[in-house]
Amino acid sequence: MKIVKTAYEVRNIVNEWRKKGLSVGFVPTMGYLHEGHQSLIEKAVKENDRVVVSVFVNPMQFGENEDFDSYPRDIDRDSEICEKAGCSVIFNPDISEMYGEYFSSFVNMNTLPQRLCGKSRPIHFKGVCTVVTKLFNIVCPDRAYFGQKDAQQLAIIKRMVSDLNFNINIIGCPIVREEDGLAKSSRNTYLNAEERKAAVVLSRSLKIGKSLMENGEKSAEKIISAVKEEINKEKLAKIDYIEIVDMNRLQPVNEINCQVLVAIAVYIGKTRLIDNFIM
Ligand code: PAJ
Repeated sequence: MKIVKTAYEVRNIVNEWRKKGLSVGFVPTMGYLHEGHQSLIEKAVKENDRVVVSVFVNPMQFGENEDFDSYPRDIDRDSEICEKAGCSVIFNPDISEMYGEYFSSFVNMNTLPQRLCGKSRPIHFKGVCTVVTKLFNIVCPDRAYFGQKDAQQLAIIKRMVSDLNFNINIIGCPIVREEDGLAKSSRNTYLNAEERKAAVVLSRSLKIGKSLMENGEKSAEKIISAVKEEINKEKLAKIDYIEIVDMNRLQPVNEINCQVLVAIAVYIGKTRLIDNFIM
């Protein structure tokens, strides 16, 4: 496995693979990899001849008061995980490689980024769409793998790829969880022991919502209040949002009569965590 820092090197390697007729899978990440990322890489390895993983903490998708500086980084550990999972190349660019001095082009989108996480992170998805577009143009993969953990991101990337005619298959992958149900996340490392215990309230409250729906409850309002009630029992938790939206437009629904995304964002202490399920 190789670690490369420049777009030029990635392009050359991928071009050589293409000449041999090999297929290319791509897993974009911000590093500090865990079993969630690993599941994406392993799926990509199964479905493609070669796999590129990018490790880049993208400053453009962090708001001014967010955790860009403190975001955990450990490229040595990431390399071990990638190598074990069967990745061929890690693309680990510096900021200057991705954003030159005169950088001024952006990929933005109406509607989908405005709800859910977009409300409290207004510039986040512009940064995600811009960096993912750049990474797609650098790697030119056949398939790219994204986790359902970031359901809104997955929906936005699928829309972007369709709207802008990227010739890339976007593959959504299931959420990988800790034994107690907490969705794996690089940000879980911010939690102290007490907060870590409290964080289980996200998956626990969603389970309550899910079982109500499985038992035939159709009112979004009732499901949202049941989830809210459970979260409010936890002293360290502060709700950012609880929403039930349709899968295509991410618009809130009142009655559940189509495929919906039930998504929540909750602060546990200072750490903002997200979780969701699709029904
Ligand atoms: P990052 O948070 O590192 O996540 C990289 C990919 O791993 C995303 O597709 C995310 O949904 C997936 N992932 C994270 N935790 C997961 C879990 N518990 N189960 C399954 N998949 C999981 O998402 C980003 O980075 C960035 O926004 C990026 C797309 C790289 C653009 O900068």
